[in-house]
Amino acid sequence: MSAPKPKLLVTQRFPKAVEARALSDYEARVNETGASWGADELIEASAGMDGLLVAANDSLRGDVIERLPESVRIIATFSVGYEHIDVAAARERGMVVTNTPDVLTDATADMAVLLMLTAARRAGEGERTLRAGAWTGWTPTQFLGTQVTGKRLGIVGMGRIGRAVAHRMRAFAMEIHYHNRNRLAAGIEDGAAFYADLDDLLPNCDFLSLHCPLTPETAKLLNAERIAKLPDGAVVVNSARGAVVDDRALIAALESGKVAAAGLDVYDGEPNVNAGYMGLENAFLAPHLGSATVETRNAMGFRALDNLDAFFAGADPLDRLS
Ligand code: DGY
Repeated sequence: MSAPKPKLLVTQRFPKAVEARALSDYEARVNETGASWGADELIEASAGMDGLLVAANDSLRGDVIERLPESVRIIATFSVGYEHIDVAAARERGMVVTNTPDVLTDATADMAVLLMLTAARRAGEGERTLRAGAWTGWTPTQFLGTQVTGKRLGIVGMGRIGRAVAHRMRAFAMEIHYHNRNRLAAGIEDGAAFYADLDDLLPNCDFLSLHCPLTPETAKLLNAERIAKLPDGAVVVNSARGAVVDDRALIAALESGKVAAAGLDVYDGEPNVNAGYMGLENAFLAPHLGSATVETRNAMGFRALDNLDAFFAGADPLDRLS
């Protein structure tokens, strides 16, 4: 007789292929509501489960982790970011936490490029004008944006995604400048200028793209004081986490023109978006699309399941965080 399959709570609707694999390899229960569960529902649904497959829109704060049943031994998140999970609290309870790095690098870097170009070239504003039937035809001075070619791109966080953005933007003849906790090895740095201090990077950024994780140290990292250090008319891109930016400061800078344009894919307090952005033509606002390709979302799901499979087979999961 074969061993019983581990019991897995799947807290969201995931891509079909991912759910199919979860349902075939586990005794899985899928949250079919299409909405995230609140803390009480999540805890209730976890009764008797061996593991949880969660996503970035589930909240596993310390108080939730504390109330999870003893049976839960692993939380695998379908995301590279894991600030929605109190990893220390999970560690305390002897629970393993895993994430899904690598597989979303390309899609997220592509999104940063899209945000950069769309913001710089006023494409959002142009599209809105056209759809509103308000486009009166080409003129020599209409929707003039900022050229990307040859400009200085400052990258905050030169991990996998930051490096993939640098790689792409070198093809646009951009000069790469970066701030990172540690300087990259020369071969990986590939001629990019390193700034140990973020404040020294900022005056060298015609474009600034954020790629750092959200931690207590990076919360509101881009604040009014730092924005003041950017060249006038800089373009700001955020595909990392919304809370890395002080929204009030960025909105004020977009209003004054200090920041010419912003391309944002992530927001503090998602899905709520600071209302101050809504009326700003120079803010291009995407609904957290960074990893949203079929290929990437499948790969994220499979990576999360690989981590679960390894754990239940008694091995160390590849992407173990605790
Ligand atoms: C992640 O994986 O952290 C993303 O933000 C979800 O797309």
